[in-house]
Amino acid sequence: MSTKPTKATITFDNGAKPIELPVLSGTAGNDVIDIRTLGKHDVYTYDPGFMATAACQSNITYIDGEKGLLLHRGYPIEQLAEHCDFLEVSYLLMYGELPNATQKAEFTSRITGHTMLHDQLSNIFRGFRRDAHPMAVMIGVVGSMSAFYFDSMDVYNPEHRETSAFRLLAKMPTIAAWSYKYNLGHPFMHPKNKLNYAENFMHMMFATPCEEYTPNPILARAFEKILILHADHEQNASTSTVRLVGSSGANPFASISAGIASLWGPAHGGANEATLKMLEEMGDVSRIDQFIKRAKDKTDSFRLMGFGHRVYRSMDPRASIMQKTCYEVLNELGLHDDPIFKLAMQLEKIALEDDYFVSKKLYPNVDFYSGIVMRAMGIPNSMFTAIFALARTAGWIAQWSEMNADPEHKIGRPRQLYTGEARREFVPIGKRT
Ligand code: SDX
Repeated sequence: MSTKPTKATITFDNGAKPIELPVLSGTAGNDVIDIRTLGKHDVYTYDPGFMATAACQSNITYIDGEKGLLLHRGYPIEQLAEHCDFLEVSYLLMYGELPNATQKAEFTSRITGHTMLHDQLSNIFRGFRRDAHPMAVMIGVVGSMSAFYFDSMDVYNPEHRETSAFRLLAKMPTIAAWSYKYNLGHPFMHPKNKLNYAENFMHMMFATPCEEYTPNPILARAFEKILILHADHEQNASTSTVRLVGSSGANPFASISAGIASLWGPAHGGANEATLKMLEEMGDVSRIDQFIKRAKDKTDSFRLMGFGHRVYRSMDPRASIMQKTCYEVLNELGLHDDPIFKLAMQLEKIALEDDYFVSKKLYPNVDFYSGIVMRAMGIPNSMFTAIFALARTAGWIAQWSEMNADPEHKIGRPRQLYTGEARREFVPIGKRT
């Protein structure tokens, strides 16, 4: 088959008239059959979990699952992680180009100008129990931002979208760090705008009013890389959530709060916390086989956390960079013999030699090593997904803006295959058995 198809035809075995549909091609990746007109023929498709369905058109990120390729606006993740800082990548995701020096300085200055939270927002934290999970706090606080920053919530106004995007990008580190400080019972540390994005977050996480705190530059750089690796990833569950919520015209804070909620699940962003919990429970290389056996047992709901991916059928390129960052951080901290890291590498080796994982093309994903790096940096397990949410805010607002800027976008309203009761008559309670 040499030429690309331009049309697809659906034929029916009951002699119904065949339906001809256009086939669309993108810059890269799979062609898609455009089924938007199917409804006119009163014909619908069924694809729970969107296993084979493109929900939108996007110019932001592209993943080649077979080759293990991840591009943001065409740039490979390896090059962005090596040469950029997080705000540079955020600019790229939002505007489509890497900023020049003037644009980068101006963007950084505008973001820095929004890092503080409205003073009354600090009261929202105090409504939670001290042991509330940081993700529960972030969902609440980010959603409540629509009650404080409602001066720029017209989703069809590009300036309003940009201002809200700046506020979210700037305030997420403060909100995440304060969620942690609230757990500890420590006073909130206000942002220090002379610090860069990663250093400021580390300052708000680890500084106290009693002592001077200087972020370790090696750890700050490693943290920037962690943020870049988590920034965006096509139409994953949380990004699709942000798009679906936003498609109704919901304000940016409500849309991003919904994305945080979706990311929390252990099948998605919650996997970094679940991976470390699994490794700590595994404890020793002698127990690896027992966990691998459980992961392969269809009667056991256990999954090997940090392994597998809907799109990648080879190593997640982010996992490779994260493993390298692990080495850098552990060496910097004199923890090169960290038992958990050694256990993770042995688990990866054994799994990748096991036919079950090889045949199903299950490789480590971004969540496999990220928890080990963050734990080594002194970040508690409960904060891992909060940091994932902090980073993914850049991708969420870029995708949300892209959708709202598209004059043809519609409210998302999937159909269903109804398998419930056919119509039946009401039965008065006295006649029910
Ligand atoms: C993220 O979408 C994104 O881009 C997400 C993300 C992003 O940046 O936004 O990359 C971030 O969420 C990474 C994934 C983190 N989750 C985990 O590490 C949790 C463990 N992994 C899985 O639960 C699973 O691999 C998923 C959820 C990630 C993907 O699941 P799919 O695509 O729905 O695949 P599936 O569940 O249908 O699995 C296919 C087969 C099944 O076996 P069969 O029924 O065909 O016999 O592979 C098996 C599964 O049982 N399988 C696993 C497994 N993952 C899949 N078996 C054991 N352990 C695993 N981890």
